[in-house]
Amino acid sequence: MSTLKTSVGASYAQLLGVGAYRPTRVVTNEEVCRRIDSSDEWIRVRSGIGTRHWAGPDETIVEMGLTAAEKALAHAGVSPREIDCVVVATFTHLRQTPAAATEIAHLIGTGGAAAFDVSAGCAGFTHALSLGSGMIRSGTARHVLVIGAERMTDLVDPEDRSTAFIFGDGAGAVVMGPSDVPAIGPTVWGSDGSQAHLIAQSEPWDALRGNPDMKRPYLRQDGQLVFRWAVWEMAKIAQRALDAAGLTPGDLDAFIPHQANMRIIDAMARAMKLPAGVAVARDVVTTGNTSGASIPLAMENLLSSGRAPSGGIALLIGFGAGLSYAATTVTLP
Ligand SMILES: CC(C)(COP(=O)(O)OP(=O)(O)OC[C@H]1O[C@@H](n2cnc3c(N)ncnc32)[C@H](O)[C@@H]1OP(=O)(O)O)[C@@H](O)C(=O)NCCC(=O)NCCS
Repeated sequence: MSTLKTSVGASYAQLLGVGAYRPTRVVTNEEVCRRIDSSDEWIRVRSGIGTRHWAGPDETIVEMGLTAAEKALAHAGVSPREIDCVVVATFTHLRQTPAAATEIAHLIGTGGAAAFDVSAGCAGFTHALSLGSGMIRSGTARHVLVIGAERMTDLVDPEDRSTAFIFGDGAGAVVMGPSDVPAIGPTVWGSDGSQAHLIAQSEPWDALRGNPDMKRPYLRQDGQLVFRWAVWEMAKIAQRALDAAGLTPGDLDAFIPHQANMRIIDAMARAMKLPAGVAVARDVVTTGNTSGASIPLAMENLLSSGRAPSGGIALLIGFGAGLSYAATTVTLP
């Protein structure tokens, strides 16, 4: 009987570079409040958000993802031809097929890398990171480009008081490659589909078929229940990711949670008893909640502003629609 050969990968994976793209148009709370009954003060107190970026017609998922990816490649010093796989975390790419990743892989010049999209809501980026690490360690790929790219404004109802002020558009990317030392910890992930209705598209797209008077589907959420789930459950998941990596909060240089809302971020940091020296990402203040793009955007912001050091250890946690979540620890690029 013959036996199969299998691929042999690197001992470990690491992040080699990070890049970001924020749309040019900055939108203030006052502008959001032209469509909803709210105020700058209410939005700042309840969410911490002061401004966010909204994409123009040319700032598509592919264009934003491409620009972020080019910056990440330059930061990593890796050429497009060295990329074996492109993974895009997004749930706002409105063209059902093909995957945005295949277009980006072509436009950036990988010369035919494998490419696919991942849909896990606001936890999409950390899911994709786990896939990338697994590919490198199994030998399926040597370098992987992981991109989070969202146009939330295509799915958010500008007249919905519960969501209109929260979300923004943008893209962030990381380049992953092999490492001789551990630089990405174990992933702690999971889902609770029994609560899938708490953040969801109101109707499937085909509900519009034969029903032209219907309001188009939008993203809806039960803000209070999502808030409670995030605050009570996600700090425990983040702690489990630290434990799995054999780390304590004092070992961290940075905490980069999904940028859902400042109150959620602060509550998680308190619950985990993070020492004052840990840099907590608060990109949400000027970027809003960009779903699958928020963690790489916040990572780029922490590094480029000098608030977290290259080579430092960061705890990442993505959580949201599904309900789904994924947390891991990384050495910063
Ligand atoms: C959305 C969120 C900010 C709303 O805050 P909240 O305190 O839960 O708000 P509630 O819906 O309980 O409403 C409280 C009051 O504020 C009012 N309110 C609700 N939305 C408002 C708005 N946009 N502007 C002004 N007032 C608003 C309500 O009418 C209510 O008024 P009342 O007390 O007079 O009845 C909050 O639930 C939240 O942050 N949820 C998590 C959302 C999130 O992060 N989602 C993404 C996860 S990936």
